[in-house]
Amino acid sequence: IPPDIQQMLEAHELLRKFYHHLLLNTKDGQHALDYLLTRGFTIESIEKFQIGYSLNSWDFVYKFLAKRKFSAEVMQKAGLIIQSEKDGSFFDRFRNRIMFPIFDQSGKTIAFSGRTLGDDDPKYLNSPETPIFNKSKILYNFHLARPQIKKLHHAVLFEGFADVISGDLAGVENGIATMGTSLTDDHIAALKRNTQSITICYDSDNAGIEAAFRAANLFSDAGCQVKVASMPDGLDPDDYIKQFGPEKFRHEVIEASSTLMTFKLQYFRRGKKLQDEGDRLLYIEEVLTEISRLENAVEKDYYLRQLAEEFSLSLEALKDQEKQINFSDR
Ligand code: CTP
Ligand code: MN
Ligand code: MN
Ligand code: MN
Ligand code: MN
Repeated sequence: IPPDIQQMLEAHELLRKFYHHLLLNTKDGQHALDYLLTRGFTIESIEKFQIGYSLNSWDFVYKFLAKRKFSAEVMQKAGLIIQSEKDGSFFDRFRNRIMFPIFDQSGKTIAFSGRTLGDDDPKYLNSPETPIFNKSKILYNFHLARPQIKKLHHAVLFEGFADVISGDLAGVENGIATMGTSLTDDHIAALKRNTQSITICYDSDNAGIEAAFRAANLFSDAGCQVKVASMPDGLDPDDYIKQFGPEKFRHEVIEASSTLMTFKLQYFRRGKKLQDEGDRLLYIEEVLTEISRLENAVEKDYYLRQLAEEFSLSLEALKDQEKQINFSDR
């Protein structure tokens, strides 16, 4: 390992421990701890996920690391401090935020995501891309979830850290999340080395549903078996667990998640008035296109019959139509 990489890792390790200490044991961290406990985080989950707090200071990290002989260059390359364009001075990237350490597969701290305690923008501030942190490869909680994923032959993909942590507290220990970026081929490849079976459990808002549709297609194209969980409109898994409890979350959301086709049928219905002719025809066409992508003849037949029945159409006509659909790009 090159010396500067080693130092970046050491700086992250030191800060993870110090942020965690500040959150749990100091007066400065009290309001952050109160925030987390009020939100329903437990001390156990704060320990398990090594959550911390960064002081409301412009130069705490800089001084803390300089005292331990880290160079400004290493701190900056590691994404921990930022150089001002105006006067060249350095300041801390993370200030007055709840700190979520990001671990690599072996459990080394390689980055942070800091959540504001208020309404500051951005809500989550992430480490930038650095020599030790590549967002498009890293999955949050993969190091802890991996043994569970292997044991259960199944993974649950969430949208946010809070969902992973709440899910874990609710007994879903095979949960992971991307780093606020959309799912990449690298993420899929990393997961596929451990399981081919995934449940997507994204937020039940527009952005989440669109992202779930995209992610579901990527997994399916990669040969994975994918299911999609759904929740009442507007809720995310963390909200849901707080409102309805862990039992209901496990049984009525995770275990009750839909097959890919059922999810797509719901997806195509969104925003449509099926009693209107135009919307109805559009829906039928979208569903037929999806059916034409199925490889299994029995499945095809099943969904064609279902469609014929729902809209009182002739099965023959639907079959003819389905055959005419060209495979077009998604
Ligand atoms: N995210 C981000 N930057 C933002 C907002 C979100 O990187 N400004 C990422 C984070 O990884 C976050 C995920 O997108 O976990 C999901 O965003 P969102 O649903 O808005 O946040 P929640 O996970 O619901 O966070 P919270 O419950 O704390 O509001
Ligand atoms: Mn601790
Ligand atoms: Mn969201
Ligand atoms: Mn959310
Ligand atoms: Mn949330």
